[in-house]
Amino acid sequence: MAQRAHWKSKAGFILASAGSAVGLGNIWGFPKVTADNGGGVFVLVYLLCVAVVGLPVMTAEILLGRSTQKAPVGAMRTLAGKGSPWIFFGWLGVAAGFLILSYYSVVAGWSLHYTWLAVTGGIDAANPQVTESLYNELFMRSPWINVAWHMVFMGMVIGVVIGGVSKGVERWSTILMPVLFVMLGGLLVRAFTLDGFGAAVDFVFGFHFDQFTPGSALEALGQAFFSLSLGMGAILTYGSYLKRDDDIMSSAIIISALDTTIAIVAAMVLFPIIFTNNLESASGPGLVFITIPVALYKLPAGGFLAMLFFGLLVVAALTSAISMLEVATSSFIDEMGWSRRRATLLAGLGIAAIGIPSALSGSSPFFGTYMADNFGRNWFDTISYLTNNFMLPLGGLGIAVYTGWRMNEAIRHDHFLAGSRLGTFYKGWIVLLKFLVPVAITFVFLHAIGLVSA
Ligand code: TRP
Repeated sequence: MAQRAHWKSKAGFILASAGSAVGLGNIWGFPKVTADNGGGVFVLVYLLCVAVVGLPVMTAEILLGRSTQKAPVGAMRTLAGKGSPWIFFGWLGVAAGFLILSYYSVVAGWSLHYTWLAVTGGIDAANPQVTESLYNELFMRSPWINVAWHMVFMGMVIGVVIGGVSKGVERWSTILMPVLFVMLGGLLVRAFTLDGFGAAVDFVFGFHFDQFTPGSALEALGQAFFSLSLGMGAILTYGSYLKRDDDIMSSAIIISALDTTIAIVAAMVLFPIIFTNNLESASGPGLVFITIPVALYKLPAGGFLAMLFFGLLVVAALTSAISMLEVATSSFIDEMGWSRRRATLLAGLGIAAIGIPSALSGSSPFFGTYMADNFGRNWFDTISYLTNNFMLPLGGLGIAVYTGWRMNEAIRHDHFLAGSRLGTFYKGWIVLLKFLVPVAITFVFLHAIGLVSA
């Protein structure tokens, strides 16, 4: 048995995990749901969800990984025993990773395409209609561009993961995360000096109660889960490369705080740019791929700003995608005894292949129109709906219930305390995992299948 790989430093673990958490969910997802659900009220509820649901689950994931030194499948087998039904949750995580990355990579591919256009001057700055049709006509209806950029992006992800834990994932996270901070910081400074900044502050932090429904609260919870990369064992897998003396809970706090800060900052970048140009905050892909480029090009040095913005999307998506592929790679290494090279290539190419229908969802008569007409969602939307509303909550529920109710108390307590200065939170953490977290996740679930309407 080869010895388990470990992070070279604790900072490497934090940056890699923050890289997993900070992704398209922060830069595109958070501003959009905040705008749709009443601004400040939603932000407050979101913060609460991160603190009382996200943080306990993240702590549990890191603990399961660190204590077993295994990816999700092996972790559940080690703790619950051979043949235990809990092992199902490990495989569920691997499957979710495959499916999420398969469509996530398509959006990352759009970001690559736009970065390329910004660099080569391919976006027509003067004419909003042209930018809109760039997205609608050329892009959504052009199968080749979608598939090609999706493949390029998957190639990048495979290229990093194949290098291993410290020489691939850790090295690239410690390079890319500072780059991300600088790009986002630069954009924030620009946004701050725009006329629309005040209006954006009011939009994002003002309490618009009329737009906040009970359903908004469930949306906040789902968004927090996705944004923190919880429910499929990504953080668990990263935790499995930790040594015993690294503090679990304080790491979880730092990672969650970074992720949440970046989501809020992203909103404070997007909306000033949009409002300064008197544009509407469109929702969906239109927000990032139509409204933002149009708005950016109205500013001085718009081409440069567009390059920064889409480059930022690519970097954020890349470090998240790395963590999704790492779950599958690590599980195949643990379970099948494959080499890292073989595990990465087979998983990566498999994901690239099942992503093709997602890349074709804008153009294909079958994966697009036919599915949308007959099932209400095209392939892309079906996969993201399934994973976000069912697989991730179910995975999170499994992790919380196992850690809260079934896990051996001696191992759990011992690992919570090892390396930690936050031992006083142990009891509170268990209570949240046992009661509040499962109840909250169950509501997301029931809401998704339509049993709770809000
Ligand atoms: N958190 C990432 C984002 O906000 C997406 C992500 C990465 C993810 N790894 C994950 C989501 C694992 C769920 C599970 O874009």
